[in-house]
Amino acid sequence: MKYRLTALLSVMTALTSTSVLAFQQDENRYAVPASATAQDFIAVFKELNGEHPGVRKGHARGVCAAGIFTPTDEAQKRFASPLFDNVSLPVTIRFSMGGGNPEADERKGPRGIGIQFDLANNQKHTLAGLTSPLFSGSTPNHFLGLLQWNVKLMRGEATREDLEKYFQANPSMLRSIEWNKGRTPSAEYTSTDYYGIHAFWANTHDQQREKFRWQLVPDGGHEYLTEHDIESLPSSFLVERLEKRLEEEGQISFAWEWTIGQENDPTNDPSILWPNDREKVNVGRVTITQVGGDACTPINFDPNRVAPGIQPSDDPVLPIRSAAYAISFGKRLSNQ
Ligand code: HEM
Repeated sequence: MKYRLTALLSVMTALTSTSVLAFQQDENRYAVPASATAQDFIAVFKELNGEHPGVRKGHARGVCAAGIFTPTDEAQKRFASPLFDNVSLPVTIRFSMGGGNPEADERKGPRGIGIQFDLANNQKHTLAGLTSPLFSGSTPNHFLGLLQWNVKLMRGEATREDLEKYFQANPSMLRSIEWNKGRTPSAEYTSTDYYGIHAFWANTHDQQREKFRWQLVPDGGHEYLTEHDIESLPSSFLVERLEKRLEEEGQISFAWEWTIGQENDPTNDPSILWPNDREKVNVGRVTITQVGGDACTPINFDPNRVAPGIQPSDDPVLPIRSAAYAISFGKRLSNQ
C-alpha cells in the first residue's frame, strides 16, 4: 500500500513539473523581446518586405501633397508656440500605406500621414500619424516581437495560434486589436481620421504646459471600404481618388484636434486611450491644394522634430522612432 502511494506521488510530481516546465517554456516563447533597437526594426522590415533601395523602410508606398495650415484663434490665445503665431504656414504632406512594401495592397492595412510645417527662420515641425489611435503594445519591444512573429509566420515556422498566444501573453497588445475589430480601411486617403498616438506637451501663455494627443479629422466626412469594395477594387486606387477629389473640389481639408490630458492620464503608454470625456481643442485646419511631385523625398517626418513650445513626452516608442527614421532616411537617400 505504502509502495503504491509513493509511486502515485512520484507520478503526480513528475506530471506537475512537466506542466510547470511547459508553462515556463510557453512564457519564454511568447515573451516580448528583452531588447529592441532601431537596427532591429530596420532588419525585420527588410526580412518582411525584401530589399527596396532608395525607398522608405517603413511606409514605402505613398504620395506627396502640399497646402497650408491655418491656426484657430483659440490655439493662438492658449498655446505659446510659433506653430500658431502666423496667419498661415506652408505644409508638405505625405499620405502612405503602412509597411515597407512599395507595392502595398491598398485594399488592406492602415494608412499614414506625414506633415511638415514650415515655420519662420527655417524651423520645422514634423509629425507622422496613423489611422489607428493605439500602438500595438505599451513598448517598442511589443511591436518588434509582433514583427518577428510575422517573419516566422511568413517562413512557415509559426502558426496563427502562436501569434494569438503572443497577444494573450502580452495583453497591452489586445487594446489595438480590439479597437480595429470590425473596421475596414478608408475608401480614400482623405476620408479617415489620423492619430498621433503618442502624448506631447505644449507650453501655454500662462507659463504652464498641457499634455495633448492629436487627431486629424476630415472636413469632407468619413468613408470606409465595404466588403464588396475589398473584393472588387484593384490593389491601387488611393492616389487616383485623391487626385480626382482635388480636381473636383479644389481643396481638401482636415481639422487638427488636440485632446488635452488630465493629471493622471498616462503619457508613457501609447496602447492606452485617455477617457472619452477629455477636452478637445480645434487648433487649426490643414488644407491640401496640390498632389504629386518629389517634395517629400528629402523630408524625414520625425515626430520628435517639434516647434519651440512643443515637447515630446516620455512615451518609450518616441525615441526609437527618431533613430529608425534616421537610419531609413540615410539609407534611402544613398540608394540603399
Ligand atoms: C517602434 C515603432 C516604429 C518604428 C520602428 C517605425 C519605423 C518607421 C520607418 C523606418 C519609417 C520610414 C522613415 C523614412 O524613411 O523617412 C517610418 C515611416 C512612417 N511611420 Fe513609423 N515607425 C514606428 C512607429 C510609428 C507610429 C507609432 C506611427 C504613428 C503614430 C508611425 C507612422 C509612420 C508614418 C506615417 C510613416 C511615413 C512617413 C513618411 O511619409 O515619410 N510609425 N516608420
